[in-house]
Amino acid sequence: HRDLLAIGKLERHEILFLLDEAEQWVEMNRGAAKHSDLLAGLTVINAFFENSTRTLLSFEIAGKRLGADVVNMHAAQSSVKKGETLIDTAITLNAMRPDAIVIRHSSSGATALIADKVDCPVLNAGDGQHEHPTQALLDALALRHALKARGHSGDDFTGLTVTICGDVLHSRVARSNILCLQAMGATVRVCAPPALMPSHIEAMGAKPFTDFDRALDGTDVAMMLRLQTERMSGQFVPSPREYHHLYGLTAKRLAKAAPDAIVMHPGPMNRGVEIDSDVADSIDRSIITAQVEMGVAIRMACLEVLTRRRRGVEGWEKGA
Ligand code: CP
Repeated sequence: HRDLLAIGKLERHEILFLLDEAEQWVEMNRGAAKHSDLLAGLTVINAFFENSTRTLLSFEIAGKRLGADVVNMHAAQSSVKKGETLIDTAITLNAMRPDAIVIRHSSSGATALIADKVDCPVLNAGDGQHEHPTQALLDALALRHALKARGHSGDDFTGLTVTICGDVLHSRVARSNILCLQAMGATVRVCAPPALMPSHIEAMGAKPFTDFDRALDGTDVAMMLRLQTERMSGQFVPSPREYHHLYGLTAKRLAKAAPDAIVMHPGPMNRGVEIDSDVADSIDRSIITAQVEMGVAIRMACLEVLTRRRRGVEGWEKGA
């Protein structure tokens, strides 16, 4: 692959390869000298047409820790605001001869469109309701670490049940995670209010639930998602109070899950709506901050692996 556009395009061995490659960066990032020169002389453009805290900052830190020159383009300050089309913006970025472009866009398929117009690897940092592949990879890496800490191998999620709960209809995180977790062997349950449950969940091989207590019963992992009100158009949305009553992860509800069940959230969190603070901050159960930590390592692995050909190193399929 030249690009990283979707988990749906990756085989299980390629996912595992990226997780394995990220481990060295987890180690380095935990040490004192957080720097490598592997990408020295390369230019990475982060083109974000939508807001971000975690993804933008972690891609920037990832590129800098690998020695690349990293520049960020925020749509709000760019000529997109003057009416420039996405394709013209892509051609403009390409003319500056970057070695990788990281894109976040509110339209599904926008990253694939840009990838078609440029000469360098493109990494999807979230496109509309389609995919957020590096989020699913960092979630798998964080889960692997948590499972290892609990005595499992962490390389095979067979036998593990993961419940993804929230605004699944608008969630690229849910879609990428369903694909990634299943590729790793996990059983995936999906829980959402009826209006926010996509019709294709069963076709994806996941089990849909509208009752959160039933969805949590015996689950090993509860992955919570926020209500993406910015993407809603006419769906019935419960008030935050109603939503918390029906779908909020409280300590009492978490007791229905497996003992030691792991709590995840990709962020940004709405505390007191989809998750209570005592659950989100639980040292024993929540791996939310570990997810953020793993985000830097995964993005370092993705940037390093996808720029191998440009650096004269064998393509990553060879190593997978
Ligand atoms: N999880 C995630 O994509 O967060 P940001 O929107 O802050 O990048």
